Amino acid sequence: MNDHDVVMIEGDGIGPEVAAAVREILAAAQAPVRWVTRYAGLSALEHGQSLLPKETLDAIREHKIALKGPCTTPVGEGFTSVNVGLRRSLDLYAAVRPVRSLRGVPTSFDGVDLVVVRENTEGLYGGIENEVVPGVVTSLKVATVTACTRIARWAFLYARRRGRSKVTVFHKANIMKLTDGLFIRQAKKVRDEEFPEIGYEELIIDAGCMRLVQDPTRFEVLLMENLYGDLISDLCAGLVGGLGVVPGANIGDDMAVFEAVHGSAPDIAGENKANPLALLMSAVMMLNHLADTLGDEGCRQAAVRIKTAYDRALADEQKTRDIGGRLGTREFAAAVIQRL
Ligand code: NAI
Repeated sequence: MNDHDVVMIEGDGIGPEVAAAVREILAAAQAPVRWVTRYAGLSALEHGQSLLPKETLDAIREHKIALKGPCTTPVGEGFTSVNVGLRRSLDLYAAVRPVRSLRGVPTSFDGVDLVVVRENTEGLYGGIENEVVPGVVTSLKVATVTACTRIARWAFLYARRRGRSKVTVFHKANIMKLTDGLFIRQAKKVRDEEFPEIGYEELIIDAGCMRLVQDPTRFEVLLMENLYGDLISDLCAGLVGGLGVVPGANIGDDMAVFEAVHGSAPDIAGENKANPLALLMSAVMMLNHLADTLGDEGCRQAAVRIKTAYDRALADEQKTRDIGGRLGTREFAAAVIQRL
C-alpha cells in the first residue's frame, strides 16, 4: 500500500518537541505515513492564522486522520478552547483514553487495563454561559438522546470488538436527574437492546472515584459524559504513572484525531524534559486505526514494532524524568529507535 497522508498538528509548549521525537521514531520504524503539517493554537496565531484555522479543519476533513500535539488556549474572554472547537467542528464525539500499567513504571497498582470513553460534544462543554444579573452567572448542561445514544453504542461496540466483558457508567443522576438521567437511560437501553452479552454497571461518580483509587483493576471500560470524562482521564493517568504515559483519540464516524491526554506543559517547554511517550502511544493507536479501517498490515506491523521497542526501553529503565528516569525527550526517542 502507499503511504497515508496524516495531518500533523504539532501544537504549543512541549508539542513541537514531542512531535519531533514521534516523527523520528515513526520514520525509523518505517511507518507508512506522510505528514501534512497544519497549525492550531498559539502556533497558528504566530503564523498569522486564527486559533483554529479553516485550513487545518479542511485538511483533517480531507485526509480523515490527524496526530495532534497539545494546544494552548489563551486565558481570557473571547477565546474558546481549540480542543473543544476542533472536536465539535469535526463531530469527533468519542474521546477514548486507554489507561494501562507499564512495565518499568512502578505505581501503586499492577495490572491496570481500562479504557475511558468520554462523550466529547455536549454536557457543560458547549460553553453556553450567561450572566443573569450582575453577580449571578449560569452554565448550561446539555444532553441529547442522539449524543447519549451514539456514545453508548460506541462504548459497547468497542467492548465487544476488544473482548471486554463489562462497561461501567459513571454519573450523577441522583442530582442531575434529567441530563445524567438521560445519559444512563440511553446507555442501559443500548446495552439491553444491542449488547446483552456485555456486563453493565452504573456507579455514582463520587463512589466511582473512590473505587478507582482503591482498585482500578476491577474496571474495564468506563463510559461517561464530557466533564466527568475530562477529570477521570487525568485521575486514571495518575494511577499508571502520570500524564506522560496516557494516549488518546477523538473519534467520529469518518474522522479521527489522535492526541495525548496532557496539555502543552508550559512549565517544562523547550527544556528537552517532556515525555514523548503519550504522543507516541497515540501514534501507535493511530497506526492500529489505519490498519483496522483500511486493512493496511504495514501500519499494524509498524505499530507492533514501536510498541515492542518502547516496552523494551522502559523495561531497561530508559525513561524520562516524569516517570522516575533521567533521559531527556531526544535521548528517550533515541533509546526507542535503538530497540526497534
Ligand atoms: P498540562 O498537562 O500541560 O501539565 C500538567 C503537568 O503535567 C505539568 O506539571 C506538566 O509539566 C506535566 N506534564 C504534562 N505533560 C507532560 C509530558 N509529556 N511529560 C512530562 N510532564 C508532563 O496541563 P495544564 O498545565 O493544566 O495546561 C497547560 C496548557 O495546556 C493550557 O493552555 C491548557 O489549555 C492546555 N491543554 C491542552 C490540551 C490539549 O491540547 N489536548 C489538554 C490539556 C490542557
